[in-house]
Amino acid sequence: MATQDELKQQVAQAAVAYVKGGIIGVGTGSTANFFIDELAKVKHKIDGAVASSEATAQRLRAHGIEVFDLNSVSGMEIYVDGADEITEHLHMLKGGGGALTREKIVAACAGKFICICDATKLVPVLGKFPLPVEVLPMARSYVARELTRMGGQPVLRDFTTDNGNVILDVHGLTILDPVATEAQINQIVGVVTNGLFAARPADVLLLATENGVKTYTR
Ligand code: 5RP
Repeated sequence: MATQDELKQQVAQAAVAYVKGGIIGVGTGSTANFFIDELAKVKHKIDGAVASSEATAQRLRAHGIEVFDLNSVSGMEIYVDGADEITEHLHMLKGGGGALTREKIVAACAGKFICICDATKLVPVLGKFPLPVEVLPMARSYVARELTRMGGQPVLRDFTTDNGNVILDVHGLTILDPVATEAQINQIVGVVTNGLFAARPADVLLLATENGVKTYTR
């Protein structure tokens, strides 16, 4: 049986087939790290990358891949990133690594979101993994009360985001309508964004299973 890391590596390799050239949007996390290591092997084909976190930028630069500021590029063909949970509709729950806001911004600028996951991430309903919500520090208590009114149990993560904000991890939500929940939480004053990627879901899911990498499209 393959280990979870072996599955992550397989799916990272499969994602390289989507790299045709230009600038690549790159996500954050352990699966994205495997992708960065694979991307380094074809770096001669690309102009560079836009990073969704400081950690990703550092790893890209360590491989000699040029990192562009998002404001200096007009867009990119693909964005490649992992997820904490994903459904067959390609709605995702992300932000386990705390990079959700920059991930959502870079993904918004990409033609195609390619999500790379091992099979443990595919779920029928989102919400078993606590939903990360990035919040301006002064709004932390207010937002926590509002999230509690929605039926969640927010827990403050001991973490500061690359944007200088805090994260509330919301436990106990069963997210039956991810598009509506994403919008509802983003309406709370003080929320920067939440980890539901449903209004803009993935376009392609590459899922590493014991029987090889399966491709799902919208
Ligand atoms: C980081 C993320 C990651 O994509 C998510 O946490 C999955 O990480 P991993 O590949 O390590 O399981 O959203 O903010």
